[in-house]
Amino acid sequence: MIILGIETSCDETAVAVVEDGRKVRASIIASQVDIHRKFGGVVPELACRAHLELLCPIIEEGLSEAGLTLSNIDGIAVTAGPGLIGALLIGISTAKALSFSLDRPLAAINHIEAHLYANFIEEEPVLPAVGLVVSGGHSDLIYVETIGKYEVLGRTRDDAAGEAFDKVAKMLGLGYPGGPVIEKIAREGNPEKISFPRPYLLGSLDFSFSGLKTAVLYHIRKYGCEDVEDIAAGFQAATVDVLVKKTLMAAEAMGVKTILLAGGVARNTALRLRMEQEAANKGLSLFRPSPELCTDNAVMVAGIGFVKLREGERSSLSLEASSDWVLGC
Ligand code: KG4
Ligand code: ZN
Repeated sequence: MIILGIETSCDETAVAVVEDGRKVRASIIASQVDIHRKFGGVVPELACRAHLELLCPIIEEGLSEAGLTLSNIDGIAVTAGPGLIGALLIGISTAKALSFSLDRPLAAINHIEAHLYANFIEEEPVLPAVGLVVSGGHSDLIYVETIGKYEVLGRTRDDAAGEAFDKVAKMLGLGYPGGPVIEKIAREGNPEKISFPRPYLLGSLDFSFSGLKTAVLYHIRKYGCEDVEDIAAGFQAATVDVLVKKTLMAAEAMGVKTILLAGGVARNTALRLRMEQEAANKGLSLFRPSPELCTDNAVMVAGIGFVKLREGERSSLSLEASSDWVLGC
């Protein structure tokens, strides 16, 4: 079964052609980073316009890379939420038009579920598991009973982990997106020189990163940005500490033996390594998608779309975007 995946929930316009949920025939990601960089973050209106311009050409590019035409596509999977409403609508309208004109089934995909599914493209994690989805918009701890059956254990109460990376990078004048640049600069710094607070919210599996972000701001106000490497390293170490510790707490509370990492922040090497060490210490299996499957892409959308369509799920042409679609609802 060949599925065309479409992802336009934020600032990447992405298309993929995936066979049977795992075999990637084509994956195109048109990043809009250059458009948003000068504003220091994603400008929704500009993201929508860019999706509109980019989507049809990259569908053609993806099909040509896969050596296929539209008539070879067996189904269409599109991210329907959560995300920027206008951006989601561009992908959904295009997917609906293709579904109608080609007479092929349509699957509406939850973006968080797609991020989690990225773990099943290259490997076969044993379930149940606890998944940590950390991106620009989310820091979610999710109990994955089976693919399709989830319980949200904890969420961010304010900033998402990726958002905190982006905002701290902005404070340090490092540009956008912040995650990759903070990671790079942190390699030159001493993570123990500046001890930023670790917001654990004891007794809860929720996250809160706004206090940590404010602590970085106060440090910069007091001491300036001279020791930028140490600030980046100290901030990253505090964030990683919290993410790892709470994921292990969730795994223990749910009695699972498998951890799944997902989302753009899961590209972070410090997080990947720390989680690997701590999971090994506790005898847990850790799965992490390849870096290119962590940040937004359409392979994960087509992959989970295959599972949904194979199970007979169908979305109608009255499908609407759901900017705050909570997984499991
Ligand atoms: O999953 P994603 O591509 O988009 C959303 O669904 O939000 O995640 C983007 C986020 C950004 O906040 C970016 O700064 C962060 O992922 N990110 C990283 C790294 N690469 C991307 N954060 C930390 N370290 C990285 N290497
Ligand atoms: Zn994402």
